[in-house]
Amino acid sequence: MADEAYDGRKAGMNLRFDFSEDDVPRHWLGGRKSVTNFFDGLSIFFPLGERFFIKAVRAHHHLIKDDRLRKEVRAFCGQEGIHSREHEGYNDMLERQGYPARALEKRVEQLLDRVSARAPKRAQLAITCALEHFTALMAHAALDNGIFDEGHPTMAALWKWHAVEENEHKSVAFDVYLAAGGDYRERAVVMLFATAIFWAKVFEHQVAFMRRDGILYSPAEWARLGWHLFGKPGWLRQIIPLYFQYYRPSFHPRDLDCNSAIARWKREFESSPAYRKAA
Ligand SMILES: [Fe+2]
Ligand SMILES: [Fe+2]
Repeated sequence: MADEAYDGRKAGMNLRFDFSEDDVPRHWLGGRKSVTNFFDGLSIFFPLGERFFIKAVRAHHHLIKDDRLRKEVRAFCGQEGIHSREHEGYNDMLERQGYPARALEKRVEQLLDRVSARAPKRAQLAITCALEHFTALMAHAALDNGIFDEGHPTMAALWKWHAVEENEHKSVAFDVYLAAGGDYRERAVVMLFATAIFWAKVFEHQVAFMRRDGILYSPAEWARLGWHLFGKPGWLRQIIPLYFQYYRPSFHPRDLDCNSAIARWKREFESSPAYRKAA
């Protein structure tokens, strides 16, 4: 949200999406299997991942002197808690559809438990900053390219709402990291590791979902996904240069300007029946 004052009370929306509807098709993103699998695979991370973020940020609460940042932290925890709950419902739906959502969540849990037990608290905060950078960039690019516009209304509404809120609170963990005395070298090194592990897990989830759909060995499905991510619209390709900005010593998440995408979404929010149902 550029540098505009962030007001979590205004931004946080306690939406509840109905994933029990029979009419959410399995391949809810325009019927494209491997592309839907990609987003479903990302959803696996959120329930536990966002709780990890909350814990990492809260562990440094006592070091925050600035009242505005304290307020932002409260809003951040509120938003991530709600996202976590909604993705739990989403992942329940995936499990009912026959995908190994619970088993994959279990593996994410084991990984996060290992990190929580072994990594120092500030490194856990640096991991949070790294992954929040990914979510902010992916959210920004997805909104900008209208990725979810052809999705089922409930699923499109969920992803767009989550994307907007990720952009709204993208600076919070980073500011807490700075308040906790976090330095450039630590966050850059952590980002290297976080990048390798996160994308390896994304690939693992993609394989599991595609296997369940019987398309794991389909060159056409892999080509469709590759084209979506790196060709047209190629939203993952678009964020590569933005990803590397994290390695600049002067980097700050607020430099990413998403105001127009957020403003567009807010107009959509007012008029969308999917949001009226979830409110
Ligand atoms: Fe979130
Ligand atoms: Fe977030």
